[in-house]
Amino acid sequence: MQGSDRGKNQAPGSIRLGIAPQNGVGQAPPSSRRVHDPSTEGPLGLRRVNGALVVSIEREDRRNALSVATLEAFGNVFRHHLSAEDRAVIITGSGARAFCAGADLKERRDMTLDDVRAQLVRYRTDLAWLSTCPVPTIAAINGAALGGGLELALLCDLRVAAPHASFALPETSLGIIPAAGGTQYLPRIVGAAKARELVLLGTRLSAAEALRIGLIHRICEAEVSVLDDALAWVAPITGGAPLAQHAALRALRAADRLDIDAGLEFELSCYEECLTSEDRVEALNAFAEKREPVFKGR
Ligand code: COA
Repeated sequence: MQGSDRGKNQAPGSIRLGIAPQNGVGQAPPSSRRVHDPSTEGPLGLRRVNGALVVSIEREDRRNALSVATLEAFGNVFRHHLSAEDRAVIITGSGARAFCAGADLKERRDMTLDDVRAQLVRYRTDLAWLSTCPVPTIAAINGAALGGGLELALLCDLRVAAPHASFALPETSLGIIPAAGGTQYLPRIVGAAKARELVLLGTRLSAAEALRIGLIHRICEAEVSVLDDALAWVAPITGGAPLAQHAALRALRAADRLDIDAGLEFELSCYEECLTSEDRVEALNAFAEKREPVFKGR
């Protein structure tokens, strides 16, 4: 593992994930316990907070750039650590300068063409689960989101940013293109015209501009940490009805790939999943009894 993958800014109470754990694979650890051997160092920190699995890139010295080890660690989060108790996944970066500066350009310099190709495959395998994750994924963008760092945020369902955050896809200025989904996700999120501008010109956007074009959903107050803001903002998700959240997510994501007729059909099938649930009955009873519902995910 690279020296820079042993980050210096690990948050108190968090643990590091670098390699796949040898035990507990596929098990759901209780929320109050560590989710991985704390002696294992790696580029990601994992914490469970208020029902959310918080994944933090701990490479501040490289502005949280995505190395081979970092992408593999992301894959391990999905393969070994995401559990049934996690109601949301929040991705953030360490420090205040960058959410993620994209590809690790220092590591990339020594890569062969096949190494680069293999890294592109890792984006599709170890990172892309964020766009199909069974629970909502949220990017808490604590600073610059550039290149693959912005593409990482685009894979998420929701994006919250600090006021000083900035956004750009500078790949064409580096002789490449955004190929971690950037050319495909960005037009779907901000529209074809704006996506062309951002990719072809490499325009850098402030948080306010990103909010205006719909690239992000929300800017937190300057005095609040973006992670805390995101955690509070997604409380209706982490405290909501799990089956309904899952069904809604599937239907919404399907809208990106289905035509309207097929999409409406699919929406009905997602509704059907909720129709027979105990949670639906509980919500109706709670309304009649003027109390908060207690959802069980059944
Ligand atoms: N890969 C590897 N290392 C990176 C990096 C990247 N993508 N981005 C920054 N770093 C390193 C710098 O080389 C520097 O290392 P050093 O201290 O050994 O010189 C360190 O992180 C700090 O960088 P610096 O530019 O001084 O930090 P900053 O806070 O002033 O600016 C950024 C942060 C992210 C705005 C700036 O570093 C930047 O623009 N990085 C390149 C982003 C990019 O083009 N990514 C590729 C997209 S395909």
